[in-house]
Amino acid sequence: MDNMEIYYFSGSGNSFAVARDVAIKLNAVLTPIMSVIDQESIDTEAKIVGIVFPIYDFKPPQFLERFISKIQNIESKYIFAICTYGIAPSQSLKHLEETINSFGGHLSLGFAVAMPQNGIGSGKVTKVQQEMMFNKWKSRVDGVCDDVKNMKTGEIETSILFFNMFKTRTLKLLPVYLAFLKQVLFKGMDSLAFTSNEKCTGCGTCQEICTQNNIELVNNKPSWSDHCINCFACLNWCPNGAISLGDADLGIKNYHHPEVEMKDMILLKNK
Ligand SMILES: Cc1cc2nc3c(=O)[nH]c(=O)nc-3n(C[C@H](O)[C@H](O)[C@H](O)COP(=O)(O)O)c2cc1C
Repeated sequence: MDNMEIYYFSGSGNSFAVARDVAIKLNAVLTPIMSVIDQESIDTEAKIVGIVFPIYDFKPPQFLERFISKIQNIESKYIFAICTYGIAPSQSLKHLEETINSFGGHLSLGFAVAMPQNGIGSGKVTKVQQEMMFNKWKSRVDGVCDDVKNMKTGEIETSILFFNMFKTRTLKLLPVYLAFLKQVLFKGMDSLAFTSNEKCTGCGTCQEICTQNNIELVNNKPSWSDHCINCFACLNWCPNGAISLGDADLGIKNYHHPEVEMKDMILLKNK
């Protein structure tokens, strides 16, 4: 469909893989949100607009509000959204709906897609669980695309946190979340700042992949500035597994979607 544009953001490739699957099936234009977000306005000729994103802390990423505020003629667009999540989508798509409403638009459909966790507890998700999630999405793509093609309106998917943990078999993430809370309570948020260890070779992958240009190499080691959006791309794409959240053991292991490559991620910055 020539008149469809899908905007996406992705830290470890999950949302990119989902956005790409839909774009291929529907012949839509695929545009990284970060390549347009700093424009004064976002003026698309597409009648159908898709927004694909990961959820952070049970909400859509904060920058989506700025992105949505810039879409011109938003009231005339058919808008659908897909969030990818590691534990539970909660009310994320409802939050997005409210944001879209506040700028005069309307969210017609909201799909929530379970994908491997890419942050705290990522190392606890087994390869078998990952495959199950990928296969489940693959079996849904056609249905999602049909709904969008037919410009259906209706369901905005939500979930209940603990019920969903049973469904996605991610209950074993609970202990790492408790460890996270303990770390924050006793050592403060600053103890969870990104850091690199002796495995760092100064290759610069983290600097290259950061869509916020928030990382600089100082003496051949990454140094993080203060405009991180917490997408974990630096940690997840480090080829040496040299980046961690302070010294806390929060079950994090490098993860990126197996069908997404570094070159796809670089596109996130420049179209
Ligand atoms: C900082 C951060 C916070 C997250 N918060 C949540 C959350 O609240 N609930 C959830 O289900 N998944 C959460 N996740 C997991 C991601 O939403 C999920 O793995 C998503 O598919 C990542 O997509 P991406 O590879 O496109 O960035 C979080 C991930 C990160 C890095």
